[in-house]
Amino acid sequence: MDDKSNPVKNRYDRIAPVYDKFEYIMERLAFNKWRKYLWELIAESGQAGDKLLEVGVGTGKNIPYYPEKMNIIAIDFSPEMLIRARKKADRNERKVKLKEEDVQELTFPDDSFDFIVTSCVFCSVPDPVLGFKELNRVIKSDGELYLLEHVRSKKFLLGPLMDLTNFIPKYIWGANINRHTLKNIRQAGLEIKSVENLWLDIFKLIIAQKGQ
Ligand SMILES: C[S@@+](CC[C@H](N)C(=O)[O-])C[C@H]1O[C@@H](n2cnc3c(N)ncnc32)[C@H](O)[C@@H]1O
Repeated sequence: MDDKSNPVKNRYDRIAPVYDKFEYIMERLAFNKWRKYLWELIAESGQAGDKLLEVGVGTGKNIPYYPEKMNIIAIDFSPEMLIRARKKADRNERKVKLKEEDVQELTFPDDSFDFIVTSCVFCSVPDPVLGFKELNRVIKSDGELYLLEHVRSKKFLLGPLMDLTNFIPKYIWGANINRHTLKNIRQAGLEIKSVENLWLDIFKLIIAQKGQ
């Protein structure tokens, strides 16, 4: 594993025991609803037996929404987060293969997956363009990526305020609130099919596909 990944990984290991409590209010206010929406879209367009990769599964908050008809692999580079995800999968009786992997150096062959899902992951991947390049490599040519991510606002004052306060979440758990994620996705060679604003111009559902 790349050395510069380790501080972020270590922070997630450290906050894993309190992560769900920490996010409880945001989950109830918004995330629940957005997860449900995202997984309904996937269930509608997916077929039985499709291969789906969830990147940065964390404590497994998406697991209860997994469509039963798909073959799902979920990865994270934090072993402590994965322990919690395993418990959630067992509690919800969901079949998922959980693996410790870094999205910046995936071990899967090219063109492996019909779907790739992330939620609030690319704020903390140490080298986001490298991570997206790996997703471009492992998604099938007719596959789709569903990326529920928060990005730096383009609004006057709000964007600079996010730049100014970024050091706080970055220090606590390694997440950046001022990433130019759409630019990073394009830079990695992926093609963006649609972008939906879920909250202001910050939380977005981005649907992308393999670049030509
Ligand atoms: C903010 S949490 C979100 C967790 C989950 N997706 C959710 O919606 O609750 C970000 C997760 O991404 C994982 N992560 C960050 N960088 C990663 C990388 N390079 N490879 C794999 N996982 C990574 C972290 O360990 C953490 O579990």
